[in-house]
Amino acid sequence: MDDRIKRNRETIKPNWLDLYNVNSPKRQGLQRPDQFIKPNNQNQTFNLLKEFPNIKQKSLSEVIASRRSLRQYEQVDLSFEELSYLLWESCRVVSFKENAVFRTIPTAGATNSMETYVYLNQVNELDSGIYLYVQDKHKLSLIKSGKELNNLVNESLLKQLRGAQVVFFFTAIPARTEYKYDFCAHKMIAIEAGHACQNLSLSSEVIDCGVCAICAYDQKKVDSLLNIDSEEQFTIYCATVGKKYN
Ligand SMILES: Cc1cc2nc3c(=O)[nH]c(=O)nc-3n(C[C@H](O)[C@H](O)[C@H](O)COP(=O)(O)O)c2cc1C
Repeated sequence: MDDRIKRNRETIKPNWLDLYNVNSPKRQGLQRPDQFIKPNNQNQTFNLLKEFPNIKQKSLSEVIASRRSLRQYEQVDLSFEELSYLLWESCRVVSFKENAVFRTIPTAGATNSMETYVYLNQVNELDSGIYLYVQDKHKLSLIKSGKELNNLVNESLLKQLRGAQVVFFFTAIPARTEYKYDFCAHKMIAIEAGHACQNLSLSSEVIDCGVCAICAYDQKKVDSLLNIDSEEQFTIYCATVGKKYN
């Protein structure tokens, strides 16, 4: 078997019992990594909505049944309320304390491996651009804007932007989970991103949107778009979101 395949299989089947004999950063008494990224003070921030009076709810059975990957989107704006709703359901922090973060998605040992970024292509009231979702405050912080972004995002997604109104970029800060789970962390980090994308998929159905999960992307180009270093923080999952045709 190819070495790379063998090694990568090991990553998703770590021997949990070995963890008891490992000197993890936590066992060494090292300082716990920050639970959240602090947005740059110089950047513009935007408070998102926490109530959604214009969104008509659907039943869980209904959204599970209607979900399909969607790769063609109607060219209409997503409302600010709809964008707020997607972030609220898929990424928000419900509560946190010194050693634990509780989100709408499960996070291994409450270590919160993830930070989410969005590319807004066509959303009412907000300029097109790349934004960090400030998860503990339910805000967006503008990272960069500019007309050239549309092409750059499309290139980084290997031409899979497909006119989507929004792109979600789920990034991992592995040290947060490695702190507690050491060599077992990486499987959990990947699973966590899957949970977020599933919440995004189901909440998108509520607002008559569809999602296409994307793993086929250019790692370096996506990370560079988000201004992250690709070592201590890197993208692990992307998703385009757009309106269904009526
Ligand atoms: C981890 C993961 C990665 C995926 N990556 C891509 C991708 O890069 N491009 C794409 O068009 N679809 C991608 N998909 C979507 C799958 O192709 C899709 O889920 C599959 O065809 C089943 O269709 P369904 O989602 O409608 O059930 C991905 C799905 C998953 C779960």
